Amino acid sequence: MKIKFKIRRYNPAEAETAEPYIQAYMLDVPEGMTVLEALLNIVDDQDPTLSFRKSCRSAICGSCAVSINGFSKLACNTQVIPEYKKAGEMLIEPLANHTPLKDLIVDFAPFWRKMEKVAPYLTPEEGAPTMAVTPKDEERVDRSQRCVMCGCCNAECNSMAIDEKYIAPAALAKAWRIVGDVREGNAKKRLERLSEEHGMWDCVRCVHCTQYCPKDVSPLKAIEELRSAAMKEGITDNPGAKHVEAMKDSVERFGRLDEAAMTFKTLGFLRSLGMIPFGLRMEKHGKLPRPHIFAQIEDLDEVKKIYEEAERRAEAEKKEMESRKKG
Ligand code: SF4
Ligand code: SF4
Ligand code: FES
Repeated sequence: MKIKFKIRRYNPAEAETAEPYIQAYMLDVPEGMTVLEALLNIVDDQDPTLSFRKSCRSAICGSCAVSINGFSKLACNTQVIPEYKKAGEMLIEPLANHTPLKDLIVDFAPFWRKMEKVAPYLTPEEGAPTMAVTPKDEERVDRSQRCVMCGCCNAECNSMAIDEKYIAPAALAKAWRIVGDVREGNAKKRLERLSEEHGMWDCVRCVHCTQYCPKDVSPLKAIEELRSAAMKEGITDNPGAKHVEAMKDSVERFGRLDEAAMTFKTLGFLRSLGMIPFGLRMEKHGKLPRPHIFAQIEDLDEVKKIYEEAERRAEAEKKEMESRKKG
């Protein structure tokens, strides 16, 4: 099948290619050919100046991630023909949310700096008794260890698109790998750092990181685990944790969300005043819940039972961990 490949090119070293542009290449594509094989074909037979990264060709090293028809994927485990049939074209570009260096190669230095920020290695407490890692412990962090550092999640992250300082999903998945490990001795300190500005609470839960991760790491699940662990440690003096507490209180008291009260509890009185113009616009467009003050639901007792059960399980889990740590 003959397919036209449109590739975003850029070479700041040459004056005539210092602005990104699209270059087209025609290629005969057999069934099963991957995007990486197509790129290698283009380099071998048509244009040796085309630049991209690759190493393992087996979805292990994470180096060949690119944007294919607008979505971040590994070039070596993406077949051309199904992609072409789905999108009606074959457009290959550098990863979004990363600065292109040349053609499809992007600057990965910020990715590694974010990774360094979470200190991705265990720091056991000195003198603490050795703890055996059970299969259940292993299961908790298992998905986080599948990461091949490809950057697809960061490229698709909506929070990172508006804040380049955001720690971003790949580093957060790695942070959970360490914090969720029963042998880690500095989990609380790590969670405190992750709760700061540009940290884990800046995730807007768009689910893109989980959707586009080629190794099923589920960074969003890792972020949820980190947030839950931070709250269990009492690290709640930040808008994200306050928002969760306000939500929990509202459902516990009324069986539903009181969004107006949640704003005050999350942002505090003064900052909430700044939200009044936004609230008025919502009211104008019929987006505020009516009535504004509502009664609790019937059968609130059923909701309370769920809370009691959740608290009982959390307490049992805490006691079990404490007794294991004592040895
Ligand atoms: S869920 Fe959070 S971390 Fe994942 S892509 Fe969306 S904003 Fe980013
Ligand atoms: S979490 Fe998934 S998408 Fe993100 S860097 Fe790791 S392997 Fe790639
Ligand atoms: S070349 Fe290694 S993951 Fe694609």
